[in-house]
Amino acid sequence: IHNEVFEDAAHASKLVAHEIADLIKQKQGMGEQCVLGLATGSSPIKVYEELVNMHKEGLLSFRNVVTFNLDEYYPMQPENRQSYYHFMHQHLFDHVDINPENINIPDGEVPVEELHQYCIDYEMKIKHCGGLDLQLLGIGRTGHIGFNEPGSHYNSGTRIITLDHITRVDAASDFNGIENVPKKAITMGISTIMKAKRIIMLAWGHKKSDIIKETIEGEITSEVPATYLQRHKNTVVILDNEAASELT
Ligand code: F6R
Repeated sequence: IHNEVFEDAAHASKLVAHEIADLIKQKQGMGEQCVLGLATGSSPIKVYEELVNMHKEGLLSFRNVVTFNLDEYYPMQPENRQSYYHFMHQHLFDHVDINPENINIPDGEVPVEELHQYCIDYEMKIKHCGGLDLQLLGIGRTGHIGFNEPGSHYNSGTRIITLDHITRVDAASDFNGIENVPKKAITMGISTIMKAKRIIMLAWGHKKSDIIKETIEGEITSEVPATYLQRHKNTVVILDNEAASELT
């Protein structure tokens, strides 16, 4: 894993947004679609803000962009304010010219009996689009990427998972109490993420410093799923000083 440390998250986020914009434009120039894997949460907010700014200034179009989000709570209604569907529209999709048909977010309302097939279809759709050109990631304090919690297998695909207790504690404030946080989620798997041609992971702040040290310097283990990224050939971890503070 290659890592880059920045003074502040805002500046780093701008650079990441520019890399994404350059990729979109490069693909546009070749008449190709650009397939982006996207994350929610606090980490990528400034990246989306910058992409929206570029679009508003007339410097970037999302006409050729296809997106696949990493995850969604289950069960979850899209119109619910805590849904990742809502998050993505609020921070990105409502402000750019992406074709709504090109937006893919796991559906938190799929009937239980259809979940298995739904997850297989999500995986196949990514494949049929030619795979993810770039995957944006945050990291949870458990070491999860997407919602691949400790114990996730290297070969895992899109599936329903049980959220770790720590993950639910961290989400509690968004839900007005841990008792309201869903217990499950649909998430892309480790293998889904590892097939991305380029991976950019973002981590900001002191509370990520321990898990970042384990991710970058620790042994590869299913107990810290983010360590699997050490096997990926084109991953960069973008950090602020605080998140990098435990690195040797
Ligand atoms: C979100 C996701 C999660 C978050 C992680 C960090 O789509 O897949 O892995 O990236 O929980 O969340 P924040 O950025 O809020 O610290």
